[in-house]
Amino acid sequence: MGVSFGLDGRVAVVTGASSGIGRAVALGLGAQGVAVACVARPSDRLDGVVAELRERGSRAVACPADVRDESAVDAAVATAEAELGPVVLAVNSAGIANAAPALEMPTAQFTEVLDVNLTGVFTSCRAQGRAMRRAGGGSIVNIASMSGTIANRGLHQGHYNASKAGVIHLGRTLAWELAPHGVRVNTVSPGYTLTPMAARPEQVDLMAGYAADTPLGRNAEPEEVFGPVAFLLSDAASFVTGVDLLVDGGHTIW
Ligand SMILES: NC(=O)c1ccc[n+]([C@@H]2O[C@H](COP(=O)([O-])OP(=O)(O)OC[C@H]3O[C@@H](n4cnc5c(N)ncnc54)[C@H](O)[C@@H]3O)[C@@H](O)[C@H]2O)c1
Repeated sequence: MGVSFGLDGRVAVVTGASSGIGRAVALGLGAQGVAVACVARPSDRLDGVVAELRERGSRAVACPADVRDESAVDAAVATAEAELGPVVLAVNSAGIANAAPALEMPTAQFTEVLDVNLTGVFTSCRAQGRAMRRAGGGSIVNIASMSGTIANRGLHQGHYNASKAGVIHLGRTLAWELAPHGVRVNTVSPGYTLTPMAARPEQVDLMAGYAADTPLGRNAEPEEVFGPVAFLLSDAASFVTGVDLLVDGGHTIW
């Protein structure tokens, strides 16, 4: 039996596409012949990644939307369908991180991270799942984190870790709810990855120690998250749904 890793000719929505992992996923999908609707915070510039995709011959459209705004999320998916065609792939990478010790953290700081990282993934999956139901099927990959499985030594981010555990478990639930519509839902959980998020002041000085604590002896480049995402999106993963794939250089084995 042949195995198809190919994604050529399909249409994807990628949230968080302006930076880091989402940007690497958008460019990686473009190189595989996928038309990409790039979603990110309106304040972030999407022009760069869309221009880069188009220069390389890919079809791409910018869909600025804050994932906390459900009507904007719905509109982004509608734009993707109208401009590019039926949406059958989605990767949700939009997320934020910051830190404060739990006993000092204001509730508003906690809920803001939950709103973006967890509720934003839910509203994105809902809009994308509806589009895939219209299209007759599809595949969604949510970017959680190994922080949904471990607590990061030295980083005070209970809100972030809770949001990522929520994304992983939401994925399991959506896997069975969307299965009757031909939609698979999986999670990719990166370890420490060299993006602007990992360069924030409370984390940047910890990164060398994290690399040393990783069996592969280093932190990830954002492009290294794309391969596992592409596998889960593809027909090669046709019997894979509801999993959380750790992409962490082995960090969580210890
Ligand atoms: N960098 C790491 O070490 C690491 C590790 C594990 C998981 N992750 C996760 O990977 C994902 C991408 O992180 P990154 O490191 O590429 O970060 P990044 O800061 O480089 O990019 C974040 C992206 O999310 C978008 N975004 C943020 N808030 C948004 C909002 N309210 N509405 C719409 N878009 C919004 C930004 O516009 C940007 O495109 C996040 O979910 C993050 O939690 C990152």
